[in-house]
Amino acid sequence: MDEKELLEKAQEVIKQNDRKKWTVPAGDLYPHQWLWDSCFIAIGLRHVDIERAQTELLSLVRSQWSNGMIPNIVFSDGAEYSGDRELWRSYVSPYAPHKVATSGITQPPMLAEAVVQIGLKLKLPERRSWYRQIYPYLLNYHQWLYADRDPHGEGLIILLHPYESGMDGSPPWVSELRKHSMPWWVSLIEKLRLDWLVNLFRRDTRHVPPGQRTSNVEALAFWAAILRLRRKAYNSEAILPRSLFAVEDLGFNCILIRANAYLRTIAKDIGHKLPESLLQKMQKTEDALEQLWNEDSGQYYSRSFVSHKLIREPTLATILPLYAGSIGKERAKHLCGLLQSKKDFGLKWPVPSVPANSDFFNPLKYWQGPTWINTNWLIIEGLKSYGFDTEAIELTNRTLELIAKSGMNEYFNPLNGQPAGADDFSWTAALTIDLLKN
Ligand code: GLC
Repeated sequence: MDEKELLEKAQEVIKQNDRKKWTVPAGDLYPHQWLWDSCFIAIGLRHVDIERAQTELLSLVRSQWSNGMIPNIVFSDGAEYSGDRELWRSYVSPYAPHKVATSGITQPPMLAEAVVQIGLKLKLPERRSWYRQIYPYLLNYHQWLYADRDPHGEGLIILLHPYESGMDGSPPWVSELRKHSMPWWVSLIEKLRLDWLVNLFRRDTRHVPPGQRTSNVEALAFWAAILRLRRKAYNSEAILPRSLFAVEDLGFNCILIRANAYLRTIAKDIGHKLPESLLQKMQKTEDALEQLWNEDSGQYYSRSFVSHKLIREPTLATILPLYAGSIGKERAKHLCGLLQSKKDFGLKWPVPSVPANSDFFNPLKYWQGPTWINTNWLIIEGLKSYGFDTEAIELTNRTLELIAKSGMNEYFNPLNGQPAGADDFSWTAALTIDLLKN
């Protein structure tokens, strides 16, 4: 496929998944609106239809809870989806909106990036009015993150469910699950080898081979974790003191650091002063990132909120401090080295979600090895911001080559480029557009 064909194909995929005011990630497998998906989609869409890109984000913020949270899923209407809505029952929380049904948890705060990327395409007066329109939502969201998810003022946001990280089955979460939080009845089902029964209730394994998804046992435990949150009406004050499944997630906090910088830019552009207390908390996050660094292994890790220890399971989140943009040049150079190293992330079709030398590494399993286009995009942005231009161009070209060869899939085998997960995946298509246009 040449560039022109790639661009046409990408636009076709987005059109096919367009639901007028928002875009579903993939028609059958993910029939709702997702937070960070919509942000990546808007980043691509801005090149072809900027108004539609703005609508994508405005549809997303209509789901904001009155306490400021933006949920990871905004559910589609329709009787066929009542099961999805009923699993979450957002109405159990007094903060949930009345007009839309949503999940009760959030996802990586990519909104500020998407807002600014759209802003960059607008002339100054339009940019200002766009920023003014979205600023209140963004400010409330960032304030909620600190108020609700950093109760001890440590600077690091705590996540209550792996889905909040956007990297559902990622090793640190699975390892925490196995250590502290596996419900006894799920262990029993595993022991009796009855976990195959879970397939009867799973949508994803009807569309994608089970070997490419979260295992049944983990999926069941994640589901049980949703029920625990729901029972406490998604109220973190009630959840956190007794939770054994809470993580200061590295990737999320890196994305937040960059998002905070964008929020400062947006506020400045429209002449707003961010509250001093928020500015201090933002600074604290940048400082606290250093606590997630482990000198012995030369990697960053997520930290368990339960044991307060680093969860020493490497994933591509170790590279994301490049995207955060707050680390020193030497450290950035070291991370760039991990990207090139063949025993870590330097595989044939990079960047694998888990490095080749991890015990978890499985080239096809959900967030435990495959290459994803959104995380490649984050890494490319990170490389660019540290001036690693050659590496950024190389990764961009390799990513586009992979998509041209294998299709607009959800993820890919980093060893041979085989497509995996859902076909015609929206953020793969949208970010293809962005990578081609930049
Ligand atoms: C999966 C992914 C998550 C994504 C969602 C919709 O849950 O792990 O990152 O947002 O699918 O595409």
